[in-house]
Amino acid sequence: MPAIFRPSANLAAAVTLLALAGLGVGGVALWWLWPRTDYARHVRWPVGQPVPFSHEHHVAGLGLDCRFCHNSVEVSATAGLPPTTTCMTCHSQIWTNAAVLAPVRLSLASDTPIAWNRINDLPDYVYFNHGIHIAKGVGCASCHGEVDRMALTYKASSLTMQFCLDCHRDPGPRLRPKDQIFNTQWQRTADTASPAALMGEYHLRNGRRLTDCSICHR
Ligand code: HEC
Ligand code: HEC
Ligand code: HEC
Ligand code: HEC
Ligand code: HEC
Repeated sequence: MPAIFRPSANLAAAVTLLALAGLGVGGVALWWLWPRTDYARHVRWPVGQPVPFSHEHHVAGLGLDCRFCHNSVEVSATAGLPPTTTCMTCHSQIWTNAAVLAPVRLSLASDTPIAWNRINDLPDYVYFNHGIHIAKGVGCASCHGEVDRMALTYKASSLTMQFCLDCHRDPGPRLRPKDQIFNTQWQRTADTASPAALMGEYHLRNGRRLTDCSICHR
């Protein structure tokens, strides 16, 4: 009587099972990794806004300081977005009839803030504070990139837990002198104070473990 399965069927079955297992493992890996990719997190995707506000024009072009518009960034958890009156200090004089600025004029007239779309947003279970980073020598560019080159603002870093921990494990090399915090073009040079010297200047030698879960999850 002929065999129902040829001997090679064993091999085929083994290969099929292996392939299924591989798919399973691959699937889990993909399920885990996908949300952490830059693509899924919209890194470097310009975000459409009610008014096409350009940091490139206002920061690199006009030389405005970040704190002119984000004035709580040094002292509070949030950086804050500027009220319409801040825009109007200039735009009540220049470009007063420009169509692109119509939403700004409407916002002022109707006394309702411009509804800017959020770009950087951490989940609510993560605690973050701008003030401490600014006070301890971390520049805006370390997290937000070259904002002064952005015609439309985009997210420059993934803001995953890994991203935060990469610096918290060893902040020294990423710190900068106090007068360069808001300069998004600053680069470390041979003349820059050493990482150890900057750690000392900002009093970061107290052995506080910045990777403890309770630092960011409280
Ligand atoms: C003239 C005012 C002005 C100045 C100066 C300014 N910004 Fe902004 N910034 C805005 C406005 C308005 C928005 C909201 C619209 C947008 O996202 O482009 C914004 C958005 C941002 C965002 C994204 C906010 C989010 O939703 O996550 C970051 C980051 C940012 N600014 C960083 C900076 C940095 C760094 C500087 C200095 C180098 C700076 N800004 C200077 C007005 C300003
Ligand atoms: C210090 C003065 C000043 C402030 C404050 C200011 N602007 Fe401007 N803005 C200008 C000037 C000058 C231009 C023309 C820039 C150019 O053509 O290079 C301009 C241009 C613009 C334009 C036209 C597109 C572009 O970027 O050239 C938009 C839109 C705009 N501003 C929005 C805003 C908004 C929104 C705010 C408030 C968050 C704001 N501006 C605050 C001076 C200012
Ligand atoms: C250590 C990383 C880090 C540094 C340094 C940093 N930011 Fe942020 N920024 C963030 C994160 C994370 C968010 C999103 C916060 C959230 O979702 O609660 C954010 C949000 C913002 C926003 C949106 C409004 C808000 O406050 O949530 C603005 C504007 C902003 N940052 C501007 C700045 C400016 C200006 C500087 C430099 C003076 C700066 N940031 C430095 C990480 C950083
Ligand atoms: C480029 C370096 C750098 C990056 C990136 C960074 N941090 Fe920090 N962080 C620091 C330094 C430096 C301190 C100050 C430590 C101290 O005072 O002992 C700090 C302190 C903190 C604190 C303590 C605040 C307090 O109340 O004492 C929190 C919370 C925090 N960071 C959260 C985050 C989160 C969340 C991210 C990612 C979105 C992040 N950090 C990214 C360097 C960084
Ligand atoms: C420096 C800040 C920081 C520290 C320290 C930290 N986390 Fe996180 N954690 C984050 C951020 C930011 C996210 C959000 C990531 C995202 O958007 O997916 C996160 C997300 C998480 C999540 C959600 C799942 C995930 O991976 O996205 C878990 C679970 C978690 N953290 C556990 C921990 C544990 C356990 C520790 C201590 C060993 C720890 N975290 C220390 C910043 C931190």
